[in-house]
Amino acid sequence: VTAEKAGFDHFMLKEIYEQPKAYRDTMGARIDAAASKVVLPEIGMTPEQIRSIRQVHIVACGTAYHAGLVGKSVIEHLARIPVETDVASEYRYRSPIITPETLVIVVSQSGETADTLAALREAKRCGARVVAITNVVGSSVAREADDVIVTWAGPEIAVASTKAYTSQLIGFYLFGLYLAQTLGTAEATYIEEVLRGLRELPEKVERILEQSEAIKEVAEQISTHHSLFFIGRGLDYAVALEGSLKLKEISYIHSEAYAAGELKHGTLALIEEGIPVIALATQDALFEKTVSNIKEVKARGAQVFGIHMEGDTELAKAVDEVFAIPQTHPLLAPALTVVPLQLLSYYASLALGHDVDKPRNLAKSVTVE
Ligand code: G6P
Repeated sequence: VTAEKAGFDHFMLKEIYEQPKAYRDTMGARIDAAASKVVLPEIGMTPEQIRSIRQVHIVACGTAYHAGLVGKSVIEHLARIPVETDVASEYRYRSPIITPETLVIVVSQSGETADTLAALREAKRCGARVVAITNVVGSSVAREADDVIVTWAGPEIAVASTKAYTSQLIGFYLFGLYLAQTLGTAEATYIEEVLRGLRELPEKVERILEQSEAIKEVAEQISTHHSLFFIGRGLDYAVALEGSLKLKEISYIHSEAYAAGELKHGTLALIEEGIPVIALATQDALFEKTVSNIKEVKARGAQVFGIHMEGDTELAKAVDEVFAIPQTHPLLAPALTVVPLQLLSYYASLALGHDVDKPRNLAKSVTVE
């Protein structure tokens, strides 16, 4: 077993460190750098079929659902098609409007999650085309979908998903760009810029991993608390949800992720002296707004740990501690921002002496509805 962990204490830590490779493998030959385009031969849709898509539904569970929230922003931004993201256990029961012009994207690491598979079958029954983003080539989801984008993260053993999630993000970036290329909804220079950003991600993740000690210290402080908040706007909010889930899964510390602007509509009442707040502020366009929300929690005594992009000098003035992710295109920030949050939950769980790889009550793959 020690050998399988390749010298790491836990599978989760090993898998966090495997992310640069997972990113590279998932991008692989799918990026034609010379031609500045994405090549996805696994997508069997004709340009006409792509042009006929009126709406996209993304359906998934748990961490894969959180990847789907990022996917919604990515596809809407790049391809200008309306997207809804649903948890699979809710999707079928809300009588979703699925037509042959609907593209349904199911996201599943294992490809065996019962609710996700049921959603896929319902989508097909209604005549929708189904694209799967999955990590397991021969899985049920992969077999039943029309098109399959495989995430080449390699086997994920730890119950808390890390490299599968980030590889799903890469899958969404590639597919979003592919749609944009076909539909002509993004300028060639813009596509080029995002592609360059994508190719630089693995090395940027490596730079974050080199700073894991700094995250460990924050994790140890947090581990003494019973409750905390993650806040952010836009894509930072989507990542906050994943950061909060990760922490709950393996440290059992209660946390809530909140869209930063919603705090004042209720949750601000829970902010008291000393409560930790993890504030994500990587999105340029929303930065000022997020900082004013940070000031609201600081004024009530919160201890704020901020995550921003290198080059910013403002956030440090508003928070207690900062961590910088390397500069990247704002659309791609989630693929970096989540890494310190994964480390944060790992080290918090470790500090509390929990079974990091096998948290209580949870299973790696849920095959019951
Ligand atoms: C379980 C796992 C989660 C995972 C979810 C969906 O709850 O513990 O980590 O995100 O299932 O799994 P899937 O294999 O469909 O991505």
